[in-house]
Amino acid sequence: MSDIVAGIVPAAGRGERLGPGAPKALRLLGGVPMLVHAVRNLAAARHVSLVVVAAPPEQAGEVRALLADHHAGAPLRVVAGGATRRESVRAALAALPDEVGIVLVHDAARPLAPVELVDAVAAAVCAGADAVVPGLPVTDTVKRVEGEVVVETLDRSALRAVQTPQGFRRAVLEEAHLFPDALDATDDAGLVERAGHPVVVVAGADEAFKVTRPLDLLLAEVVWSRRRPGSGR
Ligand code: CTP
Ligand code: MG
Repeated sequence: MSDIVAGIVPAAGRGERLGPGAPKALRLLGGVPMLVHAVRNLAAARHVSLVVVAAPPEQAGEVRALLADHHAGAPLRVVAGGATRRESVRAALAALPDEVGIVLVHDAARPLAPVELVDAVAAAVCAGADAVVPGLPVTDTVKRVEGEVVVETLDRSALRAVQTPQGFRRAVLEEAHLFPDALDATDDAGLVERAGHPVVVVAGADEAFKVTRPLDLLLAEVVWSRRRPGSGR
């Protein structure tokens, strides 16, 4: 299997938790759609030679034009995403050229993931791992509940909050996506685990947080304004 790495960006979600407006991937961060940030960060990584974006189905043409305007830094393909994240990833997988052997899946909703994180995940797969996820220790105490009753307090030291990009041997990810649709998962590694493959955790990055709710977008604006050249940092 080759070590040619492609990035897949699921970007077809509506962003319902962010509130009314354009699909989340097209909402602006520092005046630029979040999707553009996510694609640029993937494309800037040493390992990544191609990026495939799964766009909101009605906006695939718009997204193609948008990305062409923003010079992402690597060859790009745009496909129509699906009704679930998993369908979107599958549509992007189907558009990969044959020579790609390693796939990084990265949410458009994580526009500030550092390039170093992308490279660290890719390097771990190139070094032989089947599947790699970035993870951070959990800071809140997490309880399992049934209805409104606490059933159990989980051992926080054994928990990790998992981010993207997640990296995979292509064949491993494709096999995992063959599972019946009823088995939906909130990330790709969840499917790979169920297929019985080991998943390795590398250190995540605070700035790879997901923009889910309005407060996350406010935080992203602050982080972005401090990161820009000339911001005094
Ligand atoms: N995603 C996708 N196709 C879908 C649903 C989600 O490509 N049918 C993508 C989103 O665009 C996002 C990533 O999966 O980049 C993570 O999903 P999430 O944060 O849940 O985004 P949304 O589904 O857009 O948000 P919400 O669940 O609040 O509607
Ligand atoms: Mg969602």
